[in-house]
Amino acid sequence: MLNKKVEKALIGQIELEEQSSRIYMAMASWCEVKGFPGAASFLYKHSDEERFHMTKLIKYVNDKGGHAQLHQLAMPKNDYKSLLEIFEEILKHEQFVTESINKLYDVAFKEKDFSTGQFLQWYIQEQIEEESLAKGILDKFRLAGNEKVGLFHLDKELAGLASTSSQGA
Ligand code: FEO
Repeated sequence: MLNKKVEKALIGQIELEEQSSRIYMAMASWCEVKGFPGAASFLYKHSDEERFHMTKLIKYVNDKGGHAQLHQLAMPKNDYKSLLEIFEEILKHEQFVTESINKLYDVAFKEKDFSTGQFLQWYIQEQIEEESLAKGILDKFRLAGNEKVGLFHLDKELAGLASTSSQGA
């Protein structure tokens, strides 16, 4: 049976992953209407990946004898000043998710729930990759500047990333 404190913390993470999926979906929608189809594809895919992170947690909680219940979510931000602002917010958000995973790991560790600790290793690795991806894209923004041509090429690159990056990466 899943430890109650661990279950509560896992359910909090489920909520955060679901919220992340909605945040990226709203960003994708903004990119689509503002003429950044590559960034939109990248973010639609990113939104799907967050949903996958959520589902993986739900199945884990239920498999361990808990009950992964869902909560009401906040409305995501729907308007942005620029594509750069979106990617700056993604990096900040992923850093926040990393902190949350670390806290969750700490709860599991303190409760001596080592199988949850083991399960969370995947998320710890995932966060390293997600932060690194977001930082890499922000570096490209610095190179592209605010020029339309630079943004056009960056959008094309994001389209390429959307078609090559693997599920959950
Ligand atoms: Fe599921 Fe981007 O953290």
